[in-house]
Amino acid sequence: MSVTVVDHPLAQHYLTILRDRSTGTPLFRETARRLAYLLVAEATSDLALHEKPIETPLEPTMGTSLGKPIVVVAVFRAGLGLVDAAIDLLPNARVGYAGVQRNEETAEPMEYYTKFPPMADARVLILEPMLATGGSLAWACEQVKSKGAVDITAVCVVSAPDGIKVMEERHPEVRIVTAAVDRGLNERFYIEPGLGDMGDRLFGTA
Ligand code: URA
Repeated sequence: MSVTVVDHPLAQHYLTILRDRSTGTPLFRETARRLAYLLVAEATSDLALHEKPIETPLEPTMGTSLGKPIVVVAVFRAGLGLVDAAIDLLPNARVGYAGVQRNEETAEPMEYYTKFPPMADARVLILEPMLATGGSLAWACEQVKSKGAVDITAVCVVSAPDGIKVMEERHPEVRIVTAAVDRGLNERFYIEPGLGDMGDRLFGTA
């Protein structure tokens, strides 16, 4: 299993703003979007390119285009906070949604909605900002694999060792790109030190 921690100074600066409890919803939302640009750039840094001839205003030259289509899958609710940046960088990406709610008692994922584009030949970026127990991400990977996805990268803001272990066991070929691997989970399955409930902080529902 490959886990890439994006330690770019801007990523760590944005992550600090997200972690800070005094950051209000508007700045939290903006900062999540800014961090998502850096995470998505890393999650696509190994994409193959096709060469193609183009003409500059001065002369013919060789350029490149992306070698495969991209599908972005947002895991509800918090994944919605990363979608805008992803489709800004990847305007041709098709977007799928995976609605899963975690049972607050057991932290098990409970599915309530899925809608996916075709994805068999695509790089699939699963936007799951908080990789806590790994239940939701592992479930989302199962869903996209059942639709034919084989090239999957998870884009996470904060990850816990517990979630990474679950992914190692259930989806060892999935690459994880994250801004941090934190200490662990508390008794309510929140990541520590973490940033709290990402959905609540994005949407002001706390
Ligand atoms: N989901 C969140 O939003 N935060 C956590 O810490 C864990 C799961």
